Amino acid sequence: MKLGHIAAACLSLALGTSAFAQQPTVLKIGYATSKESHYGVGSTVFCEEIEKGTQGRYKCQHFANSALGGEREQIEAIQLGTQDLVNTSTGPVGNFVPEVKIVDIPFLFRDYDHARKVMDGPIGQDILTKFPSKGIIALAWTENGFRHMTNSKRDIVKPSDAAGLKMRTMENKVHMDGYRTFGILPTPMAFPELFGALQQGTVDGQENPIPVILSSKFSQVQKHLSLTGHVYSPALLLLSPKVWNKLSDADKKVFTEAAKKAAIAQRKKVNDDENNGIAQLEKDGMKVTRTVDGAAFREALKPAYVSYAKEFGADNIKKITDVK
Ligand code: PAF
Repeated sequence: MKLGHIAAACLSLALGTSAFAQQPTVLKIGYATSKESHYGVGSTVFCEEIEKGTQGRYKCQHFANSALGGEREQIEAIQLGTQDLVNTSTGPVGNFVPEVKIVDIPFLFRDYDHARKVMDGPIGQDILTKFPSKGIIALAWTENGFRHMTNSKRDIVKPSDAAGLKMRTMENKVHMDGYRTFGILPTPMAFPELFGALQQGTVDGQENPIPVILSSKFSQVQKHLSLTGHVYSPALLLLSPKVWNKLSDADKKVFTEAAKKAAIAQRKKVNDDENNGIAQLEKDGMKVTRTVDGAAFREALKPAYVSYAKEFGADNIKKITDVK
């Protein structure tokens, strides 16, 4: 050890700190899409804010493009404490925290304003309180966006056009039960396998929000995009309790506020992609169907709503649809 280092170590000991305590804690954050995508934008804002708010004591290492696995695997890793953070859709989350499932009902939300109001209001905030008992800390609702269908076979205007198509879905029973009423053959699959499955024709199509279709370059493997907007796909910024339980109250506040700012940035990116991305996908060769018969899709979905009412309570569904 050089003389200067010894002096620094003595000084830090005298000040009651350790030279080693100055090392930042690096948190692993994972998400499914690229660093430039909506998930990357939200995650970047979160990480910048916690770094700033803790004077550099916390930093992140980003694992974009599903580098840490599919969303289900990443949530399991959060519970185990082998991963610190994930910015994930609700797709697999209902398997961990059943209270989340209700927000995955197709055609539940009218538009982005409605969805965001519910998530940020008492209903959404109450759902966040259900996570800690499952070994997960939910910092905030971020956003994936309204999902639209793509496929390699034909334009989809009404459910009968979708009927018979083998479509990859998330591993989400609420979605799959709904999509079956459209006549689709739902094929659940983890997202990292999807591009290959579309390329090889193992499935005819998939459904995802515009920011995912854009950032995952699905225009390279899918011809038809129909703006079905058949379900809102909420997302969450989840943290491992292993990290949360070590934070001081002041740092907990920094993390929570950072997550709120992340949500704002992520939603803004979703808006931007919705506004500009469809034209880009057209340029990239996709055939876009803008006029979709939403009423026909809702009509087809009626039997699924009978099951949803039984499972979640008709009054609970109404509480969401009533939010203005
Ligand atoms: O389709 C999915 O699995 C999700 O929408 C994705 C792309 C992983 C983003 O959350």
